[in-house]
Amino acid sequence: MTSTTTQNNLIDLLPTRVSDDNGLAQDVKQGLSQSPKKLSSRFFYDAKGSQLFQQIMELPEYYLTKLEHQILSRQRKEILFAVDTTSPFQLVDLGAGDAYKTKLLLSELMGMKADFSYVPLDISQDQLSLLLEDMHHRWPSLPVKALAAEYFQGLEWLNQHERQRKVVLFLGSNIGNFDLDEAKNFLCTLRQSLHPEDSFLLGLDLRKDPEKIRRAYDDAAGVTSAFNLNLLHRINKELQADFDLDEFQHFAEYDPLEGTMRSFLISRKAQEVTIGALNQTFQFEAWEAIHTENSYKFSLRQVEEMAQDCGFKVQDVFTDPSHGFADVLLRPVH
Ligand code: AVI
Repeated sequence: MTSTTTQNNLIDLLPTRVSDDNGLAQDVKQGLSQSPKKLSSRFFYDAKGSQLFQQIMELPEYYLTKLEHQILSRQRKEILFAVDTTSPFQLVDLGAGDAYKTKLLLSELMGMKADFSYVPLDISQDQLSLLLEDMHHRWPSLPVKALAAEYFQGLEWLNQHERQRKVVLFLGSNIGNFDLDEAKNFLCTLRQSLHPEDSFLLGLDLRKDPEKIRRAYDDAAGVTSAFNLNLLHRINKELQADFDLDEFQHFAEYDPLEGTMRSFLISRKAQEVTIGALNQTFQFEAWEAIHTENSYKFSLRQVEEMAQDCGFKVQDVFTDPSHGFADVLLRPVH
């Protein structure tokens, strides 16, 4: 494991982190060779993509962040009471980002002088550096250990790391970007890393008016479109490709049967794209789609079943008044 220093804090870079070669070339090669074409949404988050995602979270249409913020700000005392803050623990934040919502819990914990350390994990090292600076300014006495890694590497780290009680957060409906079987695999793998006294707070977007969901992924200002197209810009930059961004367009549709919000990039014309780093060209037919993201919406029953199948029990469900979003507190069953 290597480390880089920012201010007085350390970022640990787990060995096969997603920063340098990062698997982008392989994902692109494989995804654009198949039919229908596909690119993985985990590559959205370069520096520009992370910045665009911050903007998405502030959009009027993107209700997810607002609803979860409301839950955590109004019910943080109840949530922290349920996870038990009376003995020392590590607060592990999977996919921490700018920790906008986690800060609500952190400020409450700092206020009550809880004995804990904060472990944010994110694939973006830039994002972690900013977060560390912010933490250092706000709460200089808070012990922070940042991990630059993918979720599953983070879970492995959890497994191997010195034993301390853990409260694991996976907020923001990040689990919705997995396919359903991946989501279940993730839950079951996480369960293996946890001990009976640990707990897991999982943020999920719930099923609701399909139009409301669709608008959240096709905003009037076009920020989500720029976020999606930035993936092609990243491939141009990192893999010496020649995607013409004006010849692709963002398209988003919600499937209410499955609860899947799907995002695509559509080729506006028949065209050929060369990817220098792969030494390869790819043909696009007019109006051919590249599937770039799933954002899954859950029902509470589904979550309960999935949790049970993986050896968790639902201890508490915290929702907003409209029941649009839920933070579900899971405990390992032993
Ligand atoms: C990070 N993730 C939960 C976001 C979502 O809602 O699926 C990413 C996103 N994609 C488009 N808008 C936001």
